[in-house]
This record gives sequence, C-alpha cells and structure tokens, in this order.
Amino acid sequence: MKRRDLLTWMGFGTLAGVGGELLFRARATGDALSMPFAPGAQSSFAPDVELALHAGPGDVQILPGARTHVWTYTGRVVKGPPETLQELPGSYLGPIIRVRTGQKIRILFTHDLPEPTIVHWHGLHVPAPMDGHPRFMIARGQTYVYEFEVINRAGTYWYHPHHHNRTGPQVYAGLAGLLIVSDEAEAALDLPSGTDELCWVIQDREFDRGNQFIYRAGMPTAMNGFLGDRVLVNGQERPSLALGTRAYRVRLLNGSNSRIYKLAWDDDTPITLIGTDGGLLERPGPRPYLTLAPGERADLILDLRQHRVGANVGLRSLPFSGVESGMGMGMGRMMGSASALPNGAPLSILTVQVQRRETSRFQLPVRLSTFDASWQPEETGRATPRLFAVTSGGMQWLLNGRTFDMESVASNETVALGSKEVWEFANLGGGMMGMRMAHPLHVHGRQFRILSRQVDPALAKDWESLRGGFTDEGWKDTVLVMPGERVRVLMHFTRYPGLFLYHCHNLEHEDMGMMRNYRVTG
Ligand code: C2O
Ligand code: CU
Ligand code: CU
Repeated sequence: MKRRDLLTWMGFGTLAGVGGELLFRARATGDALSMPFAPGAQSSFAPDVELALHAGPGDVQILPGARTHVWTYTGRVVKGPPETLQELPGSYLGPIIRVRTGQKIRILFTHDLPEPTIVHWHGLHVPAPMDGHPRFMIARGQTYVYEFEVINRAGTYWYHPHHHNRTGPQVYAGLAGLLIVSDEAEAALDLPSGTDELCWVIQDREFDRGNQFIYRAGMPTAMNGFLGDRVLVNGQERPSLALGTRAYRVRLLNGSNSRIYKLAWDDDTPITLIGTDGGLLERPGPRPYLTLAPGERADLILDLRQHRVGANVGLRSLPFSGVESGMGMGMGRMMGSASALPNGAPLSILTVQVQRRETSRFQLPVRLSTFDASWQPEETGRATPRLFAVTSGGMQWLLNGRTFDMESVASNETVALGSKEVWEFANLGGGMMGMRMAHPLHVHGRQFRILSRQVDPALAKDWESLRGGFTDEGWKDTVLVMPGERVRVLMHFTRYPGLFLYHCHNLEHEDMGMMRNYRVTG
C-alpha cells in the first residue's frame, strides 16, 4: 500500500490480518484525499456516536488586552447524544468528549493548519490504526476517519496531536482536550456530577508583550523541556471559582509540555485521590499532596462542606527539587534556556471561593472499584522484566540507546498478543555530563499497573519531596520515572495487534526522538 493511500482510513469492517497489522481499506487514492465519502454506507461499523472534529487557528482572550492566536479543536455531534461534546467557552481547549464504555465511536478529523497533524486518544485502548501514530498524519484538507469501540473503564483520558517532531509546539499552540469515559459501575457510586464535577487542565505558557505565546525551540529547550512562566487552568490564568458548601469531583490533567506539579490545597485539607490515568482506585487514597507529571491525570474529591461561606481555598504547586541534576542542566541554563519559573518553583494555580451555603448528602464510598484479580502484582512480579533504559548521547535523550524511527521496531520491542509482561524503565542517567532528569514515560494502547520502584537511597534523597505524591496504586498509562530509579510495571497485551508507541511525555523529549514503536504480534 502506498503511503498516501494510508492517509485516510475507512473502517469498512473488513479487517484483514496481514502480518499482524490490522489493515483498514483506504477509500481515497491519489493526492486529493478530501471528502466526499459516505460514512457508514458500506460499513459494518455502526457508530452509536459520530463526531466531526476539526483543528484550526483561532483567537482567544487570555490576558487583558490583545487576544492570543491559538490552534484549537472544535467539534460537532453528527450523530448521538448532543451532550457528547461539552464546549469550554472562551478556552483554546477542545470540547470535552464524553462517551460511555461500550459505545461505538466514529470521529471524522479534519484540519486547516499549515502543517500535518493527527489526533491521539491518550489512554484509550484502540486498534493500532486508530491510535494517532505519526505515520498517519494528514495534510490540511484531508480527513482521517477514526472508528473504535470504547473498551476502557470509566476515567479521565485526553486527546492531543502526535506529529513526530512537532507534538510539543502543536499542543502548546492549544491543541488538547479531555475525553471522559463513564460506565455503569462508576455511575452506581453516585459521585458528584453535572455542575458538581470540575475539570481542570493545567498548562504553562509564556507570552510576549503582544500577548502571543512564545515557544522557545532549540537545543537547551529540547534537553530540559519547555517551561512557561505563567500557569493556566483551562486556558485562563489563575481563575477564581465560586462554589458552594458541597462535595465536588475534580478531574485534573497535567497538559503541560514538561512542567511537573506538586499539588496541594492551601488550607491543609488533604488531597482525596479517587482515580488516576485509567479510572477509579479500589478505595480513596488521601495524601498531603499530589505529584502530577505531564500527561498524567488525577481524580479528586474536594469536600467544602466543613468550610464557612466566605472562605477561600487555593490550589498550589508546592516547591520541590531533584527532577533534574548534573552539569548538563546547568549548561542548558547558561545557554539561555532558563525559564523564569523553573520546574519546582512554587505556584498559585487557582482559587475556590466558598460563596454559598448548600447541602449535599454525598458520602465518599469506602470501595470505589474492583481491580481484575489477574492483575495482582504478586502473580507476575517475579518475571524477568523487559528492560527500557533511559540513555543519552549526542545531546539527545534515547530509549535503550535508540532514537525514534517511524517504522522500525527492534527485536526487544516485539511482544506477543495476549501475553503479560513486566517492563522495567531504568532511569540510570550518567552520560552527557552526568545529566539526570525525571521522565514521565507513557505507553500507548493500554493501561498498566506499577509493581515497584527501586532506587539508590543516595539519589532518592534529592527528590524526597515528591515521593509522597505518586499515584502508583491506580491504573496508569504514564509514570514519572525519577533520576536513578528503576520502575517496574505490569503490561497485558490484549485485544489489538499492531504498532504502538511508547515515549517520554515531556513533549520536547518526545519531539527530539525519545520515543519508539513496539509491536504486538498475533
Ligand atoms: Cu499523550 Cu503519545 O501521548
Ligand atoms: Cu498516549
Ligand atoms: Cu524525558
């Protein structure tokens, strides 16, 4: 199949198993891959929900004065419940996509950006051609048709571009949105919903004097990651929310390119964690603060029932250290990459004003969900892990000494469909002037469980101030691997064969090639 024929996928339901890849028949041929086409006309895929999603330039009011040029996703419900899309008025973020487990979804993606792009559904378990791999990027005017069934459990997922080399700038320009999955088990818990559910996407940006985003490219940024000096929530700086004396569900996404947050309420209320990347925990997990790396999500309960009307509760990022070290990092700083606001600087993120006396009968469930017993760590904890070492060389971050290549898969990156494996991410650093960094490692196509973290205690001392905020007890698709650490995770390669990605979710690291394919054969 010629590459251009791969550009537009039509899910005819005729999945041919060729060499372990799911091949979807491409309808469009030649260079003009734009519409027309007749969705569903010949397809056995009968969508419950059909959406049109578009990425294009826009202007939004972020700071007082001039509006900011952004790139933004906009959407339209073609078929299905209108509440599938929830707009965030005034924000550059894309609409929140709300779907249910078991729904069949078709999304027609188009864009009018000056460069190619593709959409990835971060955290969703979908067939390989639906995963938004950069080899499926489309040019302006083309259409990519996604068709998949939602098989994930209820949880907070998200969508963003996956251009190889340009994911960082595209996300930074505004291309990101939440994708929220609900299911019956979660609905039965009666967690706060509707206006009692708050969705906060945290991102940092830097503005020029004309209120336009600045994205510093170049080597120091690539090595350290881009750090803006202002923090936005849903595209607004330090918003203030008027709430009542109720219990709220807060869904958090760290949608920043490379900033890590150490989140805490400023009134010393503990963080009541109820869910992670892949949905609800087994039981609530209170902790003093929450460590949230790029790409990670967290679900919290914010209970304001004991607060008096007139009180303010702030969400802050507390100071921390130890996410980067070594001479190389210092050099990066001298070369002028230094952000006015380094990783670990204390930040004020938003304020909640308790404005209304209200009643709510919410009871925090003792048990939130039941994890599949076949995932119990004991069972496979002793297996020999498949090693993925973070390395560096030639001013590049690498995985097992390799950089990204669009099609290639090494022999130790091939796994069998149906198998269960322990993967070990080893962030042993060294190389490059002793440079070490925390890397949020993300695996496409599935959720995993964290089995263990091992580290030389001497190295752990540097980042002791973040350790209490890890969310390792939940389902994860992104895990922050700290300097000197070996993190073991349990992976299960179910359902879909094909080529998937794993990479660092520091988007500048990803763009410079800290990303690889793995292939599920079967
Ligand atoms: Cu959000 Cu490939 O990732
Ligand atoms: Cu992803
Ligand atoms: Cu990294």
